[in-house]
Amino acid sequence: MLQLPLASNTHLLGLPVLPGFIGMFLLTVVLLLSVAWTGHKALRSAHLKLVVVTVVSLGVTIAFAERLGRSYDLKAAGRIYPIHLFLAKTATASYLLPVVTGIATLRSQRWKSLHGKIALLVILLTVSAAVTGTWMILQAPLKPA
Ligand code: HEM
Repeated sequence: MLQLPLASNTHLLGLPVLPGFIGMFLLTVVLLLSVAWTGHKALRSAHLKLVVVTVVSLGVTIAFAERLGRSYDLKAAGRIYPIHLFLAKTATASYLLPVVTGIATLRSQRWKSLHGKIALLVILLTVSAAVTGTWMILQAPLKPA
């Protein structure tokens, strides 16, 4: 059962941490899908601008996630804790791959297909990190205030 943080560490950028995190995460997923769609439609200018906005949005989402985690005893959530940490770190690091292959695609279209496949991998890793992260928070008890 989800327990809500009530004590300190409950706000970031003036927003309560849990709704702030959920909102930022959903915004990041919508932006990521828009990046994939504009890439697929070869709308280069929109694609590149959306990449920048998505990376900033991802950074803010990670800051909210980190702040949310402070209120919970995550280790007590069990095996899902290291599994989620591994997936979250891998997903974040994996964002370098579409950046590198995207720049290669700007230079030569022969990278486009690989870039598209890597983009799908990054999206799948992001979703896996989200599912395991939600599972972890649902299992974790709140730390005493
Ligand atoms: C600095 C980062 C990036 C650059 C420079 C870049 C650049 C490009 C370029 C030049 C294309 C080809 C468009 C055309 O044909 O005119 C493209 C396609 C695409 N991009 Fe990116 N991109 C970047 C990041 C991303 C990210 C983060 C994603 C999603 C996670 C993504 C997903 C896609 C997809 C799905 C396609 C279509 C591939 C296909 O149709 O096979 N890109 N990108």
